[in-house]
Amino acid sequence: MAAEKRMLFVGLSCLDIINVHDHYPEEDTDSRSTEQFFNRGGNASNTAVVASQLGGCAEYIGTIASHILSEIIKEDLNKHQVKFENCSFHDDYRPPTSCVILNSTNGLRTILHANNSLPELSVADFSKINLAQYSWIHFEGRNIPNVLKMIELVENYNSMNDDDIKVSVELEKSKTSDIEKLLSLGHVVFVSKEYVMNRGYTTSESALHGLHDGLRKGAVLICAWGSSGAWGRGVDGTIYHAPAYKPEKVVDTLGAGDTFNAGVIWALNRGRVLSDALNVGCKIAGRKCGMYGLSGIEENE
Ligand code: FRU
Repeated sequence: MAAEKRMLFVGLSCLDIINVHDHYPEEDTDSRSTEQFFNRGGNASNTAVVASQLGGCAEYIGTIASHILSEIIKEDLNKHQVKFENCSFHDDYRPPTSCVILNSTNGLRTILHANNSLPELSVADFSKINLAQYSWIHFEGRNIPNVLKMIELVENYNSMNDDDIKVSVELEKSKTSDIEKLLSLGHVVFVSKEYVMNRGYTTSESALHGLHDGLRKGAVLICAWGSSGAWGRGVDGTIYHAPAYKPEKVVDTLGAGDTFNAGVIWALNRGRVLSDALNVGCKIAGRKCGMYGLSGIEENE
């Protein structure tokens, strides 16, 4: 029997130093946090870790610093059975690191991130992988000039093979230069609330209506809107909505968007329809907000 094709997630893996604090601290004060975690983070690797827990065969590709602190990243990928053998390893760098303040009274996270000059994934690194192994490739919206060329490689592969690889892209941070160039390239396009608000939209639905002209033919557009749930525009223009699933208490929203994306990608990759996939995404994102970290998300899905 042929091996199950993998979902590949392209983008950041980093170190997250998370301080759980019972309030948002004031500047120039010295206070004690309830807990401190050293976790693996980064959108693409977060999404890979969740997709793997849902039962998919997931791989992460990006750059990893050859540094003792990266053991935390590698250990977590191993723990969640996420493959990372095609990553590019760099000597003499420290891993990109986020210092996160997690306010335990409302679960809100404040992120201070530095990429510590770690080089981004090159097109040469990406071109070494055997594309025939993948059914789905997801690109986080960063490293845009290289990602544009990587998507071109996938398009070339698709034009020569019947077994098409589905491409999804995430437009999350509006400040990333040239990020809008990804809009027309995904079969599935995730746009964040921050991204669309920055473009002048005040609701998810208005963003779906306003942005769909810029998509490739037959693409699906998805926009999650925090506690209001998520909306998606199907290939035929139908708009679907899935409600948010609120946990009893919101304790940790770090990576909730990455978790939503994982649920949607995992479900669509399994052949589920868009309305179902949105529901899976919202359900597991809600569950994630009620617990710390990204481990243990697989239950009930
Ligand atoms: C969550 C996250 C964190 C990381 C930060 C980078 O979405 O990926 O794990 O520190 O965003 O922007």
